[in-house]
Amino acid sequence: MNQTFISDLQSGLDALKASGTYKKLNHLASPQAARVQMEGRGEVLILSSNNYLGLCDEPSVVQAGIDGLKKFGAGTGSVRFICGTFTVHRELETAIARFVGTEASMSYVSAWNANEGLTASVVEEGDFVISDALNHASIIDSIRLAKAITKCTTAVYKHSDLDDLVEKLKANKGAKRRLIWTDGVFSMEGSIAKLPELIQVAKDHDAVLIMDDSHATGVLGELGRGTAEHFGVLGEVDVITSTLGKALGGAAGGFVAGPAALCDTLTQRSRPQLFSNALPPTVAASALASIEFIEAHPERVRTLRENAAWFRQAITEAGFKPLDGATPIVPIIIGETADAIKMSEMLLDEGIFVTGFGFPVVPHGTARLRCQISAAHTREDLDYAVRAIKKVGQKAGVLK
Ligand SMILES: Cc1ncc(COP(=O)(O)O)c(C=O)c1O
Repeated sequence: MNQTFISDLQSGLDALKASGTYKKLNHLASPQAARVQMEGRGEVLILSSNNYLGLCDEPSVVQAGIDGLKKFGAGTGSVRFICGTFTVHRELETAIARFVGTEASMSYVSAWNANEGLTASVVEEGDFVISDALNHASIIDSIRLAKAITKCTTAVYKHSDLDDLVEKLKANKGAKRRLIWTDGVFSMEGSIAKLPELIQVAKDHDAVLIMDDSHATGVLGELGRGTAEHFGVLGEVDVITSTLGKALGGAAGGFVAGPAALCDTLTQRSRPQLFSNALPPTVAASALASIEFIEAHPERVRTLRENAAWFRQAITEAGFKPLDGATPIVPIIIGETADAIKMSEMLLDEGIFVTGFGFPVVPHGTARLRCQISAAHTREDLDYAVRAIKKVGQKAGVLK
């Protein structure tokens, strides 16, 4: 055992504890839902999960997983191109493409993997990749990896600043190919990308637009089909990536959706496809049932939208200033990381589980309680949450 290694790690952990930024794990002993059983706490109201549509414990989604387990067994035992491709993968990928409005799709064990494998699979030396400053960490790592592997040129444009984007595209007009990466919904802000404008910029500069819609799939648009549906531009984004781990059942998994030639290229070249086992069939079956559920129950998406609007207004009336937005992510800015973490602990004492996010996830001084609303919340749940946040805000001196 290398003791120096262990004591170095321990001092890093001690420093996090001393600064009040150490993350403790809470254990749930019941399905993910509006209210859960938390070990050592009893019943707790969840205001922090990506279970936007409440499908984690939806009976048809759970049953599809059980049926999938019985039909296909516990795992794939292989990567896709060897012997790990099951018929349920094909069914799921057809449903995903139909749902998000693309020709084809390819599933992965996570959206992290989908994103990470994508850039390096489609760029070469001489190409130019540009990314919004607030894009998700998986996109940032994907571009870093692509740069290291292919020596492509990369840049970051200021968050949602199209002038900056255009300027950098012009400066790289000699590149063989240009790729623009954006989140559909920016997860720490709850804001939506300026998609119609981005589509136009991509057209004007002969660029490929890639959008990670992880917080929008099942959430935005009348039928939950995502950011493109929200803006009425379904079918106009070159490539959409997203997760199966949020609104679509919340288990795990992700996908890349786009032209069939892209998905085939990923089968041939994407390293997470080539070197890592396929999505477990049980999870694929539950995700497929989630998509079918949303297609049959658009009212669930409407409930989510109404709940989010109600909460945003109620928390504002309670005296907080949440960041503006039209998504179920409602961030309440607290300021210092330690204060946000302390408030989230105080809220847990009130039976509300909402995570405080601070540096390095968000910039210094903008630590926040990120409230995430679900269609599974009742008005009583949300009303209780608002009253508890107000009480804790006053106690913590954040709300005068
Ligand atoms: C925008 C975005 N992309 C990708 C991911 C990764 O999703 P997954 O859990 O499927 O790896 C997340 C999850 O936090 C996310 O918010």
